[in-house]
Formats: sequence, structure tokens, C-alpha cells
Amino acid sequence: MRNFIIDTDTASDDAVALVMALRHPDIDVKAITVVAGNVPLPQALQNALYTVELCGAATSVYAGCAKPLLRALETAQAVHGEDGMGDIGLPLSGRAPAAGHAADLLRRVVNQHAGDITLVTLGPLTNVALALLREPALAERVAECFIMGGIGSGHGNVTPTAEFNIWVDPEAAKIVYESGMKITMVGWDISWRYATFDAEQAAEIRRIGTPLAEFVVDIQATLDQFSKTANALPGFDLPDPITMAAALDRSVCQYQQRRVDVTTGDGLARGITVVDWLGVSGQAPQVQVATSADRDAFVSLLKQSVS
Ligand code: RIB
Ligand code: CA
Repeated sequence: MRNFIIDTDTASDDAVALVMALRHPDIDVKAITVVAGNVPLPQALQNALYTVELCGAATSVYAGCAKPLLRALETAQAVHGEDGMGDIGLPLSGRAPAAGHAADLLRRVVNQHAGDITLVTLGPLTNVALALLREPALAERVAECFIMGGIGSGHGNVTPTAEFNIWVDPEAAKIVYESGMKITMVGWDISWRYATFDAEQAAEIRRIGTPLAEFVVDIQATLDQFSKTANALPGFDLPDPITMAAALDRSVCQYQQRRVDVTTGDGLARGITVVDWLGVSGQAPQVQVATSADRDAFVSLLKQSVS
């Protein structure tokens, strides 16, 4: 069994990533920590709690930061729906998280499993940055941190230069990328290149016919419309799930070790993951940057999780 802890701003693609981890026979999800991002924190909490229940899992869910470290919260409800789960009328209310703050829980679990825990982040890095600020030594106790965030090479999705998770809380991202933690970054470029689903590809998943197979497709309703109109894609893309696939089986992606810095300016200078591809900075390359992926391997892991 491999120990995981997952930090998420639970909306429609995060939920699929949670299903892939919770339903994987070799993964023990020690806890799920929730951060504001796609939707406000209370909604993200309900979405995570609902998804855990749907998977028949007993994993505890903890509330974290309700806004970025310094900036105001900017949500992505236009992308994922008002409730973040496609506004299809799911009963996403009335469930209670475990007691305690996510940043404290992250510290506790990482210290309990020092060297034997994988952290997967699916949202803005506010909770993770807070935990690292409180206890910098956590950085060497996390065996590996898989981050859905940033851009390896290509365009952004919030601004022409930035990806949402990094852009929402760039100060938190800078703290995490400079923490010394062993980071593998799966940027949004990997998602739109290898993890999009047109109508037939989505129907192929849904035809598996289980409640989870229908759930993972139906909650993408808003994302599907947004992806086709705003992102010029053939259908919804699944950035968090392909990142989770890489965490489950790193051979799903190929990587290059590069120096990555995060900008904390405003406008076009906000939240860029600057990858030093040629090593011109002279800085130590601290991130494994995903450069390509095996779509079939990803889809196979996704299908297994809902079968
Ligand atoms: O840019 C894509 C990322 O932003 C994904 O994690 C999605 O869930 C949103 O949080
Ligand atoms: Ca997310």
C-alpha cells in the first residue's frame, strides 16, 4: 500500500481524481484536505465529502484556508458550475468535515509517515504553503509531491501566461516551489494535450454503467460547455485526474528535471511557472516537469476506478 494525502479545491475534475485514488487497491488515502479555489471553501468541502461517501470510503476530510495567503479569492464557478459539480442537482450539503485545520492535519500526517507519504495537490497551494511556513522540515518528509498546476510549455487558462491553481495564490505557490520538497509538476498543457474527452470519449466512460461511471461524466456538464466555447477544446479536459494518474503510476507521463520559478506580480506577471528549459538561470533544477503523457494509460486507470 502507498500512503497518499490529497489537497483539493473540490470541483468536477478534482472529484474524478479523488475517485481514482479512493478506489485504487494499492492506495491508502490518509486524509483529504480542502482549500478554496474553484468554489468557496464550504462548497468544496461538501463536494469532497459527497465524493468520499459515493466511493464508500471512510477517509477524513479537513477544512483548510478559505482564501489565498494575501490575495482575495477568485473562484472558477463559471468553469465548473455554481456548485462546482456541473449544477446537476446533486445533494451537496449537510455533511460535516473532521475537526481541525487542514494545515495542522497535513503536518500531523506527514510527520506520522515521514518519508512514506505522497502529497497530491489539486488546487491552489494555500494549505500546503501554510503547513510549510509553520514547519519547514515537512519538505524533506514528503516522499514526493505531485502538483496539478502551472504550465510546462504552452498557454495559460486564466491569463495567456498563467494556470488557475498557481494564479489564484501565487505567493503560496512560490513558497511551495522554493521549499525543497521533491516536486513533480503536471501542468495544464498536459491536460489539454492528453486528457480531453469529446462526446464519444465521454460516452465510452459513461457506458461502463456504474453509478461512479455516470457521476464522473455527468458532473462535467458545465466544464464541457466552457471547454468547448472558451478553451477551444473538443470537450471537457481532466487536469486533476491526469495528475492523479501520474501519482498512481509515474510512467503515465514523461518528465524533465528543470528549475521552475513562480512570479507574484499582477496582470500578465501573476502566477507564471517560469520553466528554465535551457538552464540559463544557473539555479538548481528542483522540479520534475511533465512533458508528455500516455493517454491510453491514463484512461485505463480512470476506467478501472469507476468499473
Ligand atoms: O487549471 C486547472 C486547475 O484549476 C484544476 O485543478 C481545476 O480543478 C482548477 O482547480
Ligand atoms: Ca482542482
